[in-house]
Amino acid sequence: MKKMDFKIATLPGDGIGPEVIEQTIAVLNKIGTMFGHTFNYTELLVGGSAIDATEEPLPQLTIDTCLASDSVLLGAVGGPKWDNLPGDKRPEKALLGLRGALGLYANIRPAVLHKALKDACPLRSDIVGDGIDICVVRELTGGMYFGDRGRTTGEMGEAAYDTECYSITEVERISRIAFEIARKRNKKVMSVDKANVLESSRLWRSVVINVAKDYPDVELDHMYVDNAAMQLIRDPHQFDVIVTTNMFGDILSDEASMVTGSIGMLPSASLGKGTLGMYEPIHGSAPDIAGQDKANPIATILSAAMMLRYSFGLEQEAVAIEEAVTKVLDQQFRTGDIMSAGMQLIGTKEMGQRILAAL
Ligand code: IPM
Ligand code: MG
Repeated sequence: MKKMDFKIATLPGDGIGPEVIEQTIAVLNKIGTMFGHTFNYTELLVGGSAIDATEEPLPQLTIDTCLASDSVLLGAVGGPKWDNLPGDKRPEKALLGLRGALGLYANIRPAVLHKALKDACPLRSDIVGDGIDICVVRELTGGMYFGDRGRTTGEMGEAAYDTECYSITEVERISRIAFEIARKRNKKVMSVDKANVLESSRLWRSVVINVAKDYPDVELDHMYVDNAAMQLIRDPHQFDVIVTTNMFGDILSDEASMVTGSIGMLPSASLGKGTLGMYEPIHGSAPDIAGQDKANPIATILSAAMMLRYSFGLEQEAVAIEEAVTKVLDQQFRTGDIMSAGMQLIGTKEMGQRILAAL
């Protein structure tokens, strides 16, 4: 086995971010000891805590250090304290800035319902069957999030606009990622758009159809976004990989995560051209429970597993983490967000320790 050294930029951020990152680093260190790798961490400021320290949500030092690292592990950003700042000074701006600066155009958000957590799922058990496993692939550096925006005056007075614009290149590269991922799963891609109304969606659809020619082993289908929102709840099993725009992906990935009933469980990876990726839990900073040892660290720990897999090529190590998490859930330990009758309620730290012990 090859021993390796990795530079990881850690961005704990706000709210529960620091607590969940702390547990995740402990898990990574144990993996390092078990498999003979060394992880070197550099902690950096981001979001509200960066605003407090430097008046900027995304200091240049953070961007530069991330670019010089092998990967980035992020906790969460935002909180009521910074909610009234102007748009480009808000903590959320840091996320968009990082995605843009690091060129992370592909956001991979697996929505998996662990068998042990079936009771946490809000859908009827006959709809859930024996679990849910969907992977949302969201375009992350284009569309309305990054398009031209501004204020103007129209016939009805003051107005504002945001533009949705996609180039063929942007759609091609995100489609390829979706097809590649589908190849390793159930070989089905559902492209979600609004081609009955939007010109950008018509281009999106035609490009995805073209890219599909290189993946004859993968089945491609299309769905309008409104229908997709409905079908996700009506019958989540019809989906394997969903590929969609930045805006639609933002919405559908939240919906998909709720379908699994446990947003505190879901990891994500943001990838670009090279191997540098940013890994973060899907949940937010949860300021209401911050610092109380109540947060579920599993989403961040599973994000670290994705980092090992996608940025470092350490599949075996990634699987070890995922199996340890499953084991602890099977042992009936739960944090508050996934608690159900008969289970044993534990805190952030104990959840981290239990996962360490299960490794
Ligand atoms: C997400 C979040 C962000 C987004 C916000 C915080 C800017 O909702 O990662 O899904 O809209 O992309
Ligand atoms: Mg979102």
